[in-house]
Amino acid sequence: MSVQVDTAKPVQIGNGWEPNILAFCCNWCSYAGADLAGVSRFQYPSTVKILRVMCSSRVEPAFILKALKDGADGVLIAGCHIGDCHYIDGNKNAEVRINNTRKALAKLGFDKRLRLEWVSASEGLRFSQVIKEFTEEIKKLGQNPVKKDIKPQMKAPRVAPLEGASTYAPAGAYVPNQNSGHDADKGELNSSADKSATKVQGSEVK
Ligand code: FES
Repeated sequence: MSVQVDTAKPVQIGNGWEPNILAFCCNWCSYAGADLAGVSRFQYPSTVKILRVMCSSRVEPAFILKALKDGADGVLIAGCHIGDCHYIDGNKNAEVRINNTRKALAKLGFDKRLRLEWVSASEGLRFSQVIKEFTEEIKKLGQNPVKKDIKPQMKAPRVAPLEGASTYAPAGAYVPNQNSGHDADKGELNSSADKSATKVQGSEVK
């Protein structure tokens, strides 16, 4: 069964929405390029979150799918130029892998949300341009349609702390009974604590 997702959303520039781009940058070239962009004060949108990997070939299709599933509007993989990879053929392998992933994503209409770029350590300006271009492209595509299906995670309810206690405990968690009569020094339980200790899930052990 194939899943068809329509990504043709209206452009949402000006309504406060900014794309959320995840960039995998290789340690040896692209991450240094991003660093140079910062040091050189080349402006680029704050829409990008950079994740450093040792080589562009480290990025597995599963990473890309997970990022898109979790609501990233775009995924960028940036590595050394062909011939400059510190692991010889890493970026060539990455190119094949990303192209295959893009073909698979095309069936879902997500292929334009994936981009592969070569950025060297001396190309800070190019890095900022790549981010600007990709951001504009994603803005035209609109938000990741998967986002609307993402529900906020439930937080564990909190209970008030015991008198004198400094920490909270989630409901249902074991909370020591200060009146249980347990004497840590003697290593004993009094009779009421003993009874509660023998109750297991509503049944009493005799
Ligand atoms: S080390 Fe940069 S792409 Fe392989």
